Amino acid sequence: MNVLITGAGRGIGLGFTEYYLKHGHTVYACYRTESGKLTTLCDQYNDLNLLQWDVTRPASDSLLQSLPGHIDLIINNAGIYGPKKDGQSLQKVTPEAMHEVYEVDCIAPLRVVQTLQEKLSRPGGVIANISSKMGSSGDNTSGGTYAYRAAKAALVIISKSMAVDLQPEGISVIILHPGWVRTDMVGLTGLVDVSESVAGMSGIIENIENYESGAFVAFDGQIVPY
Ligand SMILES: NC(=O)c1ccc[n+]([C@@H]2O[C@H](COP(=O)([O-])OP(=O)(O)OC[C@H]3O[C@@H](n4cnc5c(N)ncnc54)[C@H](OP(=O)(O)O)[C@@H]3O)[C@@H](O)[C@H]2O)c1
Repeated sequence: MNVLITGAGRGIGLGFTEYYLKHGHTVYACYRTESGKLTTLCDQYNDLNLLQWDVTRPASDSLLQSLPGHIDLIINNAGIYGPKKDGQSLQKVTPEAMHEVYEVDCIAPLRVVQTLQEKLSRPGGVIANISSKMGSSGDNTSGGTYAYRAAKAALVIISKSMAVDLQPEGISVIILHPGWVRTDMVGLTGLVDVSESVAGMSGIIENIENYESGAFVAFDGQIVPY
């Protein structure tokens, strides 16, 4: 299987990269900043291809030329949280923060799919969009976090449109919540290790036929309300 992952340089994206390589797949790992971890993995795996892509920008010609003829799975993982602490409160969140997070967490995954959709396997291609429970209206009992919640909720609804639009071509879309994962995004304070989160989400992707296209599913298999 050819797997393309965005934000692959660290955190959950790096975890997905390692997982799919270990399971014998060919990975197109798209990074913005290369911390050296991907280069180290290149020494271990021939099936790892490194592509630089800041997903807020169009893909470069050299990236497009480096892609395979078909892609079986796109994981839209790259994301940002935006201002920390109470920087996203009703009082303090700024238009600039709203725009910045929306650009990375919602517009960029749409751009990635627009750029790559012709290459997705038909039938059988899968798009996995990494949202967050923070983007669920049904799950929102604590309020706040305006920029991140809004961008991740917008990713949920564009994923649903992708699911509807691409279903006739046999392409499935899944929206994933990774859990609260120990990565830089949460100052390594999460409850779940990257490996556990990634194993759970990859298992859901492998059993995608058990889910309606456009379903919102947590790493532990629980359905998340829109
Ligand atoms: N950790 C959690 O508890 C949690 C919970 C729910 C959802 N999520 C979601 O899971 C995904 C991965 O998060 P994480 O926890 O692994 O976060 P992370 O450790 O902060 O890693 C974020 C990754 O996204 C990349 N990225 C950010 N902006 C980018 C851009 N413009 N172009 C390309 N890559 C970009 C970063 O690259 P650089 O190294 O260049 O910055 C980094 O590789 C995100 O979508 C996040 O919202 C995480």
